[in-house]
Amino acid sequence: MGECSVAFEPVGKDELDWLGTGPVPAEPYFDNTWFEMEREAVFRQSWMQIGHSCELPERGSFIRREVEVLKASVLVTRGKDGEIRAFHNVCTHRGTQLVDDGEGRRNTFSCPYHMWTFALDGALVSAPDFGSFHVSKEACALPRLYCEVIGGLIFVHFGEPETSLRDELGPLAEKLDGMPVGQATTFSEYVYDIDANWKLTFDNFQENYHLRFIHPAAAKPVCSADNPFGYPVSYGFHGAHRAQRIWTNPAMPPPAPIQGEAFRRGGASAMADGLLGADTVKDYLALFPNFFLFGSPVQHFSHMVMPIAPDRSRGVIRLYWVGEDESASERFAREYAMATARDVHAEDRSVIERGHKGLASGALRHIHFQVQESLCRHLFVEVDRKVRAYRGATPEQVR
Ligand code: FES
Ligand SMILES: [Fe+2]
Repeated sequence: MGECSVAFEPVGKDELDWLGTGPVPAEPYFDNTWFEMEREAVFRQSWMQIGHSCELPERGSFIRREVEVLKASVLVTRGKDGEIRAFHNVCTHRGTQLVDDGEGRRNTFSCPYHMWTFALDGALVSAPDFGSFHVSKEACALPRLYCEVIGGLIFVHFGEPETSLRDELGPLAEKLDGMPVGQATTFSEYVYDIDANWKLTFDNFQENYHLRFIHPAAAKPVCSADNPFGYPVSYGFHGAHRAQRIWTNPAMPPPAPIQGEAFRRGGASAMADGLLGADTVKDYLALFPNFFLFGSPVQHFSHMVMPIAPDRSRGVIRLYWVGEDESASERFAREYAMATARDVHAEDRSVIERGHKGLASGALRHIHFQVQESLCRHLFVEVDRKVRAYRGATPEQVR
C-alpha cells in the first residue's frame, strides 16, 4: 500500500521556528496605508500569474486582463512567430486603452481615438498623418512587460525583475513543468468578489485547520483518527514561494454513487490516464504573491486572489482540463467538479468576510498562527519584509 500504510506524522511544533513563533500584527490585514505600500512593494515587484497558454491557442490570439492593484490593464498576445508577449494595454499616442474585448483573435490592434495601429509584437505599424509628429514609429511601440510561461501558466512582471521567474522558482519551476496544468487545453472558471483583504482571503486556502469546522461534509473523508484535522504531510519553502504536500486518508470511505461516477468519468480523461504522475498528485504550490495551484487525478485546480482595495478582493478559481468534453458523462464530470469547488468555496466565503470585519474594527493588535498555519505566517513574513524594504527606500517614512 506504499505510503498509505504509514501512520500520519504531523509537522512538529518546533520544526518551523525559523519562521518565527510570535504574534503577528493585525494591521497589515486591513490598513489602507499598508495596502498602498503593498501595491508598490509587493505587486509591482513580483511575477504575477495572469493567464494560461491555452487561452492563446493560435497566432493572433489575445487576452486582456485587468490588474486593479496596479491600476493596470494588460494585453497578452501570441505573435506571428508564436511567441507570447505582454504589453500595457495603452496606446502610445495619448494613452487611451487600446483593446476593449476580453479575448479574441486579430492581426493588429487599432486605437479608436485616432486610429494608431499596432502589430501583435507591439510595433506601431501605421498612424494617420504621422509625418506631422516629431517622433519615430520605433519609439512608439506598446510598452512591454516582462512575460514568462512556465507549465503553461503565463506570468508578467510590472517592474525590473532581478532574475527570470524560472531562476527565481528553481526546483519549483521543474515541479511546475511536470504538473498536469501544462498540458491543459481548456478550463472551467469561477470568479468571485469578496469583502476581505487579499491576504486573509488567500490564507484561508493555505491551512487545513478550519476544514472540519467550516466544511464538515467535505472534510469527513479527509480526516482520520490519526490526522483529525486533515493536516498536510509536509511544508516546503523556496524564497517567497511555498509548497505543501496534501495528505491522503488511507481509510477514506468510497465516494457517494454520483460522486464516484463523476470521478470515474473525470478520471477517464487523458489527464488522469497518463499525464499525472504519482509524485505530482498531492503537490500544492503557492507562488508569491497571490496564486496557488494543485493537482489531483480528477482536478487541476488554480486560484488567484487579486487585491482591489484593503477590504475587497477578486478571486479566480480554475479547473484545467485536457481536450474538450467528448461525452455527456465527461461533461457531467467536469460540471460536478466545478460545482463541488463552488459549494466548498461558499462555505469559506462568509467566514473570511467575518474575519475581515473583526480585524477592521481595530479590536486586535495581533493575531496568532500555529505551526499548521505556517504557510500563512510565511506569506505575512514575506510581505512584511518587502514592505519594510520599500519603506526604507522611500525618503518619506509613512509611519
Ligand atoms: S490616443 Fe490612441 S490614437 Fe490617439
Ligand atoms: Fe476552506
